[in-house]
Amino acid sequence: MITKLLEMREIAKKKIQEAKSIQELNETKALYLGKKSPLQEIMSHMREFSGDMKKEIGQKVNEFKNMIEEEVNKRLEKIKEEEVERKLKSEAIDVTLPGKDIPLGNLHVLTKTIEEMEEIFVGMGYDVVEGPEVEEDLYNFEMMNLPHDHPARDMQDSFYINPNILLRTHTSPVQARTMLKAKGSPIKVICPGKVYRRDDDDATHSHQFMQLEGLVVDKDIKMSDLKGTLSLLMKKMLGENCKIRFRPSYFPFTEPSVEVDVTCFKCGGKGCPLCKGSGWIEVLGGGSVHPNVLKMAGYDPDVYKGFAFGIGIERITMLKHGIDDIRNFYISDPRFLKQF
Ligand code: PHE
Repeated sequence: MITKLLEMREIAKKKIQEAKSIQELNETKALYLGKKSPLQEIMSHMREFSGDMKKEIGQKVNEFKNMIEEEVNKRLEKIKEEEVERKLKSEAIDVTLPGKDIPLGNLHVLTKTIEEMEEIFVGMGYDVVEGPEVEEDLYNFEMMNLPHDHPARDMQDSFYINPNILLRTHTSPVQARTMLKAKGSPIKVICPGKVYRRDDDDATHSHQFMQLEGLVVDKDIKMSDLKGTLSLLMKKMLGENCKIRFRPSYFPFTEPSVEVDVTCFKCGGKGCPLCKGSGWIEVLGGGSVHPNVLKMAGYDPDVYKGFAFGIGIERITMLKHGIDDIRNFYISDPRFLKQF
């Protein structure tokens, strides 16, 4: 009986060690420790053995059981380890493989121009402000010294929402809004943003474009301050050799008013097809803030003076990069946009 038990032990041990899966292991365990196992069978015959024999067989059966438990646990650990190893192998990632290229976008060239100009103006102590694109007639025209029947309204026809509300035709209404907010104190702001005009679209015109407005109001502001400011701006934007000139012009909200030209970046002022032989290219409008505009916004024009200007952002970007068609900015063609 004892020899049989020992023999069985060896077979059991081998079976456990050969089990390939948790399921197989459980089956083997059940075979030896379950209700119908040979050990159970021996136990049920214990009564038939005499004292010493009974004791010895009981002991051997217990050892057998413990051995099975122990071996099963050992094998279980092993199977789990093998499982993890197999998984690691099958899911292995080769970190040395080259990665997939993720195409990176970039800022729009107009955004870059705005950011560049903002940086220059912030360096000169300006604040950057914003205003609404859907604007009241009051700010777009009335407070800019363009009353209802003023003929200069024709210069900037617009898209009207109703008789009093329109898409702003320029960023100048932000001047009025800023002055009302400042309640009589000095001002130094720029305002970049979209503007809209009922215009035909061609290589140099678009029904929607962008401007950067500037406004300075203080007690001792002169036209020469405007010239110095714009001169510095253009040198930084278009190069140290860039010069500017003022030409008399007319805007209802500035007096005197000027059109500002820069030396042609292509020929340096000698004259070429781009500047139509003149050596100069027009880039913006500006002037001394009209006394009526100051008065309407609560400033005493005998005490306060100011200058204002409006720069076409597309215009200056076209000059800077030699872009010949304004429509390129809006058609979202990556072949164009990637170049900047
Ligand atoms: N608002 C003018 C325009 O759109 C430009 C301008 C701004 C002129 C400020 C003078 C002063 O044409």
